[in-house]
Amino acid sequence: MKKRIAVLLSGRGSNFEAIADSVAAGRIPNAELAVLISNRENAPGIDKARQRGLKAVVIPSKGRQREDYDREVVGLLQAKKIDLVCLAGFMRLLSPYFVDQFRNRILNIHPALLPSFPGLEAQKQALEWGVKVSGCSVHFVDENLDAGPILVQAVVPVYDNDTEEALSARILREEHRIYTEAINIVLSGQWRLQGRRVLRTE
Ligand code: GAR
Repeated sequence: MKKRIAVLLSGRGSNFEAIADSVAAGRIPNAELAVLISNRENAPGIDKARQRGLKAVVIPSKGRQREDYDREVVGLLQAKKIDLVCLAGFMRLLSPYFVDQFRNRILNIHPALLPSFPGLEAQKQALEWGVKVSGCSVHFVDENLDAGPILVQAVVPVYDNDTEEALSARILREEHRIYTEAINIVLSGQWRLQGRRVLRTE
């Protein structure tokens, strides 16, 4: 049985596309994309999914209570028999209810080397702090913001003449690469948690 992946997003959808490309090319073996969910009606990622023939569902989150919203999303994920949830620019904190229903089966990508620069505008935060390297992290999602155990990270240099756009683009290339790597680790089942550490078992 193929593992069924759901992608949740709020915007552009380039990480979604990278994951979809990897699934289509067999770089994520024995997996299929089952559904894309957007919490914003006008997210460009929705059309990108539909162009690929993938079911894209919009569940607007504006004005909704967090858990009430999450119960609707979880209901859809369960109905679709989803094995792994990939947050790809999904700009909402998940409720404890959501995290509990998919414990260690929700991944997020963040454009910084966590635990540095969680939250919004991570690339801008990194530039302003003056770090000489930054990067991206794929981690399990827990109840806290950008805080769960880390699966994969990649490092990029920060140059003196960097703009937020240039640094973001350099990080994004790595995001697209490591999300596939992290999904493969999780779906292989060959990992275990030791405290916060994700250790490979094979
Ligand atoms: C990505 O850079 C992702 O790391 C970031 O949003 C962007 C979404 O781009 N996520 C966060 O900042 C989460 N805290 P995309 O829609 O093109 O994948």
